[in-house]
Amino acid sequence: MEFIDEALLKYAEDHSAKEPELLQKLNRETHLKVMQPRMLSGHLQGRILSMFSKLVQPKTIVEVGTYTGYSALCLAEGLQANGLLHTIDNNDERVPLLNRYFTEAREQNRIRIHTGNALDILPSIDGPIDLVFIDADKHNYKNYFNIVIDKVRPGGLIISDNVLWSGKVLESSKANDVDTIALKEFNDYLASNPKVEIVLLPVRDGLSVAMRK
Ligand SMILES: C[S@@+](CC[C@H](N)C(=O)[O-])C[C@H]1O[C@@H](n2cnc3c(N)ncnc32)[C@H](O)[C@@H]1O
Repeated sequence: MEFIDEALLKYAEDHSAKEPELLQKLNRETHLKVMQPRMLSGHLQGRILSMFSKLVQPKTIVEVGTYTGYSALCLAEGLQANGLLHTIDNNDERVPLLNRYFTEAREQNRIRIHTGNALDILPSIDGPIDLVFIDADKHNYKNYFNIVIDKVRPGGLIISDNVLWSGKVLESSKANDVDTIALKEFNDYLASNPKVEIVLLPVRDGLSVAMRK
């Protein structure tokens, strides 16, 4: 299932920068061999992440939720030459695949893979951070945001994925599951947070972009 009309998505992809060949390969391999390929950011969202990163020109990027490394490679496209991207995932089974793709992209020295619970690892990553991508367990989004917010430099971005949660954020609160409740709380929290300027983009499953004031 796609998050928006398939024909419109294809039109948007056809009129956006091409998905780089290595990412096409990773996208295919993920769909063939890895559980829950819908978690991968994909062509359009990947190009958006790449463009944000190129605009910010980050020296330090932090990603929560590596999965098969697709979004990490998109974000790394904007890294400064001596920059570093920290990516965190609590599943170590995909590390060989990650190493293979990060090496093929010649990014193995600029992407550091952290394996474990992001709640334990995030506090050990020093600021200043220029760009954060939150894309892991939904009930911890607010915790992740609060751990990083004071390490993010003014003008830096915190981008969070799946904030529309297939439209479930519109459902009445009685019908809500824990993840929907957490995402609704997170969206409200960001919208009224004086430390950030926020825009919620209805791209794919909802991408919120918070700029540190
Ligand atoms: C949606 S996927 C990430 C997709 C990836 N960012 C992309 O766009 O290609 C979410 C990932 O978060 C990881 N995850 C879930 N809970 C976590 C936690 N508490 N700490 C670290 N990683 C976690 C999962 O193992 C999964 O690989």
